[in-house]
Amino acid sequence: MITPPKKNKTMAFLLPTTLAITGLVFSFAHAFDPSPLQDFCVAANDPKSTVFVNGRVCKDPKLVTPDDFSTSGLNVSGDPAGVGVTLKSVGVDRIAGLNTLGIVMARVDYESGSPATPHSHPRSSELILVLEGTLETGFITADPSNPTKNRLYAKTLNAGDVFVIPPGLLHYQANVGKVKAVSFNSLNSQNPGLVTATSQLFGSAPAISDDILSKAFRVDKETIELIRSKFA
Ligand SMILES: *[C@@H]1O[C@H](CO)[C@@H](O)[C@H](O)[C@H]1NC(C)=O
Repeated sequence: MITPPKKNKTMAFLLPTTLAITGLVFSFAHAFDPSPLQDFCVAANDPKSTVFVNGRVCKDPKLVTPDDFSTSGLNVSGDPAGVGVTLKSVGVDRIAGLNTLGIVMARVDYESGSPATPHSHPRSSELILVLEGTLETGFITADPSNPTKNRLYAKTLNAGDVFVIPPGLLHYQANVGKVKAVSFNSLNSQNPGLVTATSQLFGSAPAISDDILSKAFRVDKETIELIRSKFA
């Protein structure tokens, strides 16, 4: 049951306060990776290392080979990452030479009708290149002409089309075509971070209280319980 929003004093206080706090959190969350201090710092395969730095410990540069900067297999889809979506990430675990360079990429395959549900990457922008099929993608941010409202910037992309998601903004992709879709996505951080709106709000442990979520979503607690049960 969806109940209409109540215009009482609590809401009048809560809404601007929530917006202000959200604005602060998101402005601090936007960041770019620091510039490296050397041409490369290939990640050492040293699981016993007790040295902690911002990234991985560097391999001895004298032992670095061309293979440290390369990987293969992106001609094949990756592992399940949601209903009808698979992901093959290329980060420092696959290319040790990516360490400290502030960039990663991924191949994403989507069955017809399947979405990558709304999520954000706190530390990176994302360039989406569609190679096969038809994807709708978009991000949401404050409407420049009315910052108390939100605006969706979305497009339908076909093979060869590119769309960019600014850092930290909530976005989604969805295969809106009749056949499989494939995209290659590049992100400008070694560790972009992932905030999945639905599962983080409804599937955290411990859980956010029904009371808070029912007020946030302006529905009764039974509706919150129903949604929560899908993320258990
Ligand atoms: C993918 O590329 C690899 C070489 O990296 C090759 O061995 C393999 O056969 C290719 N697979 C497909 C399905 O094209």
